[in-house]
Amino acid sequence: MRIAVLPGDGIGPEVTAEALKVLRVMEKKYDLKIEIKQGEIGGAAMEKYGTPLPEETIDICQEAEAVFLGSVGHPKWDSLPPEKRPEIGGLLKLRKLLQLYANIRPVVLFEKLKEVSPLCDSILAKKIDILIVRELASGIYFGQPRAFTGHEALDTMRYKVEEVERIARLAFEIAGKRRKKVTSVDKANVLHSSMLWRKVVGQVALGFPQVRLNHLYVDNAAMQLILNPSQFDVILTSNLFGDILSDESAALVGSLGLLPSASIGEKINLYEPVGGSAPDIAGKGIANPIAQILCLGLMFEYSFSRADLALVIFKAVEQALNDGFRTQDVVAPGMSCKTTAEVGNKVCEYVLNWTN
Ligand code: IPM
Ligand code: MN
Repeated sequence: MRIAVLPGDGIGPEVTAEALKVLRVMEKKYDLKIEIKQGEIGGAAMEKYGTPLPEETIDICQEAEAVFLGSVGHPKWDSLPPEKRPEIGGLLKLRKLLQLYANIRPVVLFEKLKEVSPLCDSILAKKIDILIVRELASGIYFGQPRAFTGHEALDTMRYKVEEVERIARLAFEIAGKRRKKVTSVDKANVLHSSMLWRKVVGQVALGFPQVRLNHLYVDNAAMQLILNPSQFDVILTSNLFGDILSDESAALVGSLGLLPSASIGEKINLYEPVGGSAPDIAGKGIANPIAQILCLGLMFEYSFSRADLALVIFKAVEQALNDGFRTQDVVAPGMSCKTTAEVGNKVCEYVLNWTN
């Protein structure tokens, strides 16, 4: 397993370090052959190379089978021109380069974490197990033209039929292996790109008669996520709407520090937590490493066809949370906060002791 590791900025390096500990334990226990090459991205790369995505990093990624990424971004770089910023010149450029067209974000509420969810008991009585399929290589994140034009600025939300078909097909395939329901989220009452989106998704759906499809406007979807989250199985949506709805979903399950994601490309996949670099808590040893550790599980499943190992990681994480090994963002009243490393070490211990 050839893996490119890009820790990046903010809490990226500290949570990645914990995930790598878990990976090394997995390697030993399951007799895997793992080869890791580390590279720089984002602000960390700016410091060293003067660019947020150096050639060295691109090479490391292209030679790997999977890219394992921490996070990018810090207010320090916010005044740079767009293409030099960690987010645009680093992460988005890498997504484009690797043609990562789909971002898969599982949103699962751990039973014990009901106690930290902001939702009331009647809503929590039903299971929350959602999979957001976010289009990642197009839409308003990449559409041209985009520019500052004197006293104006503009971005372009653009979708091509093939781009919508590709992401929709993936969403239906995944839904076919789950509860067989796709909710497509758009703003087709206003936006042209959404009118196209809705039409194309409807056509793709005809090829998957066993999967149910419904459409929601994004404003309504945002409300439904809070009022009745258990209605959702797969949420299929565009780049921008997926970005927003996934942070909202993170609140449902307790913390942004819990959600992993898999970005699916033509050849190489990339794994990164849904949450960002969290500069306000970086370097303090208090960031939640769970999202990054769960990214390992997605990597085993989607890059190395080892869903069995993904399950081991999921179970070890659940056990650590159940036993009160929780960082500040997910502690219940009266519980003490554990550090990033304490949580990471506990997950390692449970992985080591796991027996099927
Ligand atoms: C995410 C992040 C990124 C995005 C940022 C860091 C560019 O918020 O992965 O959700 O907007 O896609
Ligand atoms: Mn986001």
